[in-house]
Amino acid sequence: MAEHTITLTDNATGRSVEYPLREGTHGPSVIDIKTLYQDLGHFTYDPGFTSTASCRSDITFIDGDEGTLLYRGYPIEQLAEHSSFLEVSYLLLNGELPSRTELDDFSHSITVHTMVNESLKNFFNGFHYNAHPMAMLTAVVGSLSAFYHDGIDINDPESRRMCAHRIIAKMPTIAAAAFKHMVGEPFVYPKNRLSYSANLLNMLFSRPTEEYEINPVAERALDQLLILHADHEQNASTSTVRLAGSTGTNPFAAVAAGCASLWGPAHGGANEAVLRMLEEIGHPSRVEQYIAKAKDKDDPFRLMGFGHRVYKNYDPRATIIRKTCHEILEELGMGDDPKLELAMKLEDIALRDEYFVERKLYPNVDFYSGIIYKALGIPNQFFTVMFALGRTPGWIAQWGEMVEDREQRIGRPRQVYTGAARRDYVPVEKR
Ligand code: SDX
Repeated sequence: MAEHTITLTDNATGRSVEYPLREGTHGPSVIDIKTLYQDLGHFTYDPGFTSTASCRSDITFIDGDEGTLLYRGYPIEQLAEHSSFLEVSYLLLNGELPSRTELDDFSHSITVHTMVNESLKNFFNGFHYNAHPMAMLTAVVGSLSAFYHDGIDINDPESRRMCAHRIIAKMPTIAAAAFKHMVGEPFVYPKNRLSYSANLLNMLFSRPTEEYEINPVAERALDQLLILHADHEQNASTSTVRLAGSTGTNPFAAVAAGCASLWGPAHGGANEAVLRMLEEIGHPSRVEQYIAKAKDKDDPFRLMGFGHRVYKNYDPRATIIRKTCHEILEELGMGDDPKLELAMKLEDIALRDEYFVERKLYPNVDFYSGIIYKALGIPNQFFTVMFALGRTPGWIAQWGEMVEDREQRIGRPRQVYTGAARRDYVPVEKR
């Protein structure tokens, strides 16, 4: 079949050039414009990359109109119900669901890498007690590059595999240490006999003074939340990891850059912002007033946890989290949590409001997740850390795919220059 092409014509010169259209497995095809500048002497202009594909990827597919999310082809709904976070991590890294032996080997490899170098604890002593945990996570994850620098050859598949296992294994240990620093309690070491999510709960909440009982409902809810956050194609933080990684930098440094990007309230920081918003609204009777603020162009207030660059339908993760929210709050005897009631009232009103309907603004993954984290005893400021823990396998899988992609080069976008025209220097006495 003849190749499908798109022709671009420069009306000023009459020059026309054909560009190949590349089809994916699902979703929009892409116009391969790699040679546009040398052909026509123009750049494309796409602030926010609303119409730009930065790479080819086999890892995650999102259909924003349908509200579909697939990890390596598997629907998120099925993975959230039947899989585990470690199995999903294996899937994202390797492209296939593991056999029982492969899963056991992978779980063992993660388990035996959960400890961090003891001297890493000194970093936390440098933080004030009220340091934001994302500041601590970003700094300490970046410092891992100091411990694992010489031994890393990013062009060696085995070295990349070890980096991936180490970062997935150590993130919860570092995150929990940041939490313990926040609350002024002693750090808790990982326990190899616990599952990934049980280990995280234990490192967060156990104390030397008493036995800590893992609540299986909390363990399952946490594991599912981590699954739902594990990857999301070329979102801002993943694109940050890819761009940083494209220079050949240390993968731990690239993931630290991803943490920094995720922290923003327009991205992973939204879950913390949702709880702050719900606490500020305070009562269902004030919802209308805040909806009006969200619609007011002169008011910077936005409905946090609503809207998405890609989803113009329900975020499938929000649908799953909403269901889990009800279940976990009932299980924990918090079914009448006023924040859940307020969130549902806010969602109900917004989804019937023309402004939100017209702009296809629906609840996203961040709208309900904070309510569950809060119910699990996790403070607002720590919600984005939980998001980072979930997104780590996605970041490192995308980093590995970028390194292996022969088409990938150092990411170096261009611009349209709108500054001062060329002019000569004027000595200060003549200004
Ligand atoms: C995540 O990319 C990913 O995949 C991210 C993520 C992942 O898993 O990695 O899914 C995780 O980051 C989820 C999003 C979390 N952020 C929030 O909940 C913050 C609130 N949402 C908005 O800031 C916004 O919706 C974004 C940032 C999520 C999307 O921004 P876009 O795509 O640039 O959309 P936009 O700002 O151009 O908005 C389009 C219109 C605008 O109005 P008009 O100019 O057309 O009149 O919708 C309005 C916006 O003002 N709008 C909102 C709104 N979100 C968009 N108005 C009120 N409240 C909102 N939340």
